[in-house]
Amino acid sequence: MKKNKKNKMVILYTSAVITLLITFAFQGNKDWKAPDSSKDKKNPIAYSDESVAAGKKIYEKECLNCHGKKGRGDGKDAANQDATVADLTAAKVQAQNDGELFWKISEGRKPMPTNKKTLSEDQRWQVTNYVRSLGKAAKK
Ligand code: HEC
Repeated sequence: MKKNKKNKMVILYTSAVITLLITFAFQGNKDWKAPDSSKDKKNPIAYSDESVAAGKKIYEKECLNCHGKKGRGDGKDAANQDATVADLTAAKVQAQNDGELFWKISEGRKPMPTNKKTLSEDQRWQVTNYVRSLGKAAKK
């Protein structure tokens, strides 16, 4: 290989590595997007006093310590997490549809635990309804 060509390869390779490093460095807490397919999943549990109350019970057990009583991301363990705990009343959270919230609640993302095994589908929809109610309460 000619020296010129070799230099070009080295430059190409180096810039590829740098691009990758930058991509990883900015992957922090910033954007967590549910896959588009999750949007099509309809909430089978009607939003009602009953389902919100059932969701509240689950929330108090599984979510409260991080997300806080009103969902503001200020639970007692929030400060000890190595990522910012989401404010569930924020417009960018409430703007997502039930399917997207259900997906995130199911999957979790470190340090938020996954709830697929610990909560049934119905329970995850109930807690989705409760997250919705936190958004409504914050608007009042
Ligand atoms: C150990 C702390 C912890 C627990 C417990 C926890 N979360 Fe989270 N949650 C987080 C953190 C941290 C984030 C932000 C994750 C990110 O953006 O990378 C988050 C993000 C979310 C989001 C996405 C917000 C957005 O920006 O779209 C939802 C919805 C959510 N949590 C709901 C819940 C629900 C409901 C529960 C209980 C079933 C729960 N979380 C339990 C820490 C927690």
